[in-house]
Amino acid sequence: GRFDVDHVAVCDSTNTRLLERAQRGSGSGTVLVADAQTAGRGRRGRTWVSAPGSSLSFSLLWRFPAAQRLEGLSLAVGLAIVRGLGKLGATGLALKWPNDIWLNGRKLGGVLVEVAQGARGEWATVIGIGLNLRAQPEWVEQIAQPFAALDELSQQAPDREAVLAAILEALLEVLTQFSSHGFVAFVDGWMSYHALLGADVSVEQHGLKRYGRCGAVDALGRLTVDTPEGEMHVFGGEVSLRAT
Ligand code: BTN
Repeated sequence: GRFDVDHVAVCDSTNTRLLERAQRGSGSGTVLVADAQTAGRGRRGRTWVSAPGSSLSFSLLWRFPAAQRLEGLSLAVGLAIVRGLGKLGATGLALKWPNDIWLNGRKLGGVLVEVAQGARGEWATVIGIGLNLRAQPEWVEQIAQPFAALDELSQQAPDREAVLAAILEALLEVLTQFSSHGFVAFVDGWMSYHALLGADVSVEQHGLKRYGRCGAVDALGRLTVDTPEGEMHVFGGEVSLRAT
């Protein structure tokens, strides 16, 4: 198939492992799933909690040519996740810009895309995905923000392998389309899951906080925010967005 999936019981971070494998020449479609991570990483230097049996934590290596524009890649990945979960019957999903997955208004999972560039400018992207499958009592103390888990949606425990397969299938389609068109091909799809459209938000960038109304995402995946000082277009990288 298109994917070469490796499972480990535990590692520091599947993203760290795949960044290393990328350097040693592993190809697109290399996937690493860990039952648990000892140093799972989130965006903006945060830690990501993943213990055995409670989460799906994996990373996918995908290579792009030097000319590829990568803006919006992590948003497209978020869309692939909600599409994949939707195929399994999940409802109540939304995307909190830039790439958090929400279930019923609480965080179900997140995406951490890391990029390395080769000698001739070609890109190795490591797409890390963490999803809560079964809520654990200790998460209440460990996780600062309201969280959700997939087990809310049905009596049966979600099957990790089925969730992984559905997301990989959706990712293959999204990454293929992203290669030829970039994020612009996903704007409408992304907007249909836009959790904070029209909401009053604060945007914190380089320690500066501004308030405004959350608008659309543009062709590069930037978020439009209407503030008293004018319209901002913000990239996901260094920004924290909150509903106020
Ligand atoms: C976030 O919401 O801030 C992003 C969380 C990303 C977590 C996943 S779990 C698999 C992969 N390995 C990591 O260390 N992080 C990502």
